[in-house]
Amino acid sequence: MGKLILVTGGTGFIGSHTVVELQQAGFDVVIVDNLSNSKKEVVDNIEKITGVRPKFECFDLANRELTRDFFSRNKNIDAIIHFAAFKAVGESVQKPLEYYRNNLTALMNLLECMKDFNVNNFVFSSSCTVYGQPEKLPVTESTPRRPAESPYGNTKAIAEDIIRDFAFVNPQAKCIALRYFNPIGAHPSSLIGESPVGVPNNLVPYITQTAAGIRKELSVFGNDYNTPDGTPIRDYINVVDLSKAHVVAIDRLINDKNKSNYEYFNIGTGNGYSVMELVNAFMKATGVNLPYKIVGRRAGDIEKIWADTSYANNELGWKAEKSIEETLLSAWNWEKKCRGIK
Ligand code: UFG
Repeated sequence: MGKLILVTGGTGFIGSHTVVELQQAGFDVVIVDNLSNSKKEVVDNIEKITGVRPKFECFDLANRELTRDFFSRNKNIDAIIHFAAFKAVGESVQKPLEYYRNNLTALMNLLECMKDFNVNNFVFSSSCTVYGQPEKLPVTESTPRRPAESPYGNTKAIAEDIIRDFAFVNPQAKCIALRYFNPIGAHPSSLIGESPVGVPNNLVPYITQTAAGIRKELSVFGNDYNTPDGTPIRDYINVVDLSKAHVVAIDRLINDKNKSNYEYFNIGTGNGYSVMELVNAFMKATGVNLPYKIVGRRAGDIEKIWADTSYANNELGWKAEKSIEETLLSAWNWEKKCRGIK
């Protein structure tokens, strides 16, 4: 029998891709998700890709009793990957208490259960948002963290601190935080991908919905930044590449390859693309014309960030491999599949 991994938020965007990679690497998976921002059919589609149906339980990890009950019934969990969280930056500004309560309570319930039920390996989905706008680029893991721009971002920074402090007094617990840059794209099978509810906030879903004719045009938020073409720069990483980093992190923990019991890594490509470069790469990769207009800046956006990935590359033996064109094409294929476009 393979090792059993609990994937919280396993029907979500990054979670579902990670479940696929874990299963394909020989791990058994149990998903816990309350389906607040995802659909149960994702489990069917994971099974279609891998030939294996992950176990699935639907409940809210912010509920302490239900979480303890889950661990008391599942005593054979070897590691946890914790994705389940609210993630809309703008919404978090409007509903700070909901964000702090949901994201931090679920985390603390899980950590408490690790201690009480002897689960020693934990991988957390953090974000490059903890760096804010860094003074020096690219950012390394020792780049100082900056105050978060939103309650959502702050939940990631606080969560890292909670995990660090938990690991300090629980030497048997081994924890890794992965600081994601901008995850985009979809599985090459087009069976799983990103499914934003309502109007997308993020660039690539907005681009693919515009290309599909659901949105009239893309609004490019500002072209007066201090970048070569004036539009902001991000490090866009393919979601399958990103998911593979979790498999490597789990292997590192389970096989005691970690150097300390709280580690954190930048998970990006090391390449920065501006919004306009991404728009042009999308048109080139797909052959679809994308209507866009330049509008004013979006509040809270930083100017530029991309990762120095050498620590993750060297320590984890992991590297992002897929090109931006291949990644954007996978996002477009997924959008077409969802919309029934040939
Ligand atoms: N953008 C547009 N038009 C749009 C949407 C986005 O021009 O319709 C621009 C943004 O202004 C930004 C870039 O595209 O310059 C990327 O924006 P996203 O919303 O796709 O991504 P962000 O970098 O703002 O946010 C992402 C994650 C957050 C995380 C943050 C950390 O979505 O969860 O990175 O930096 F907190």
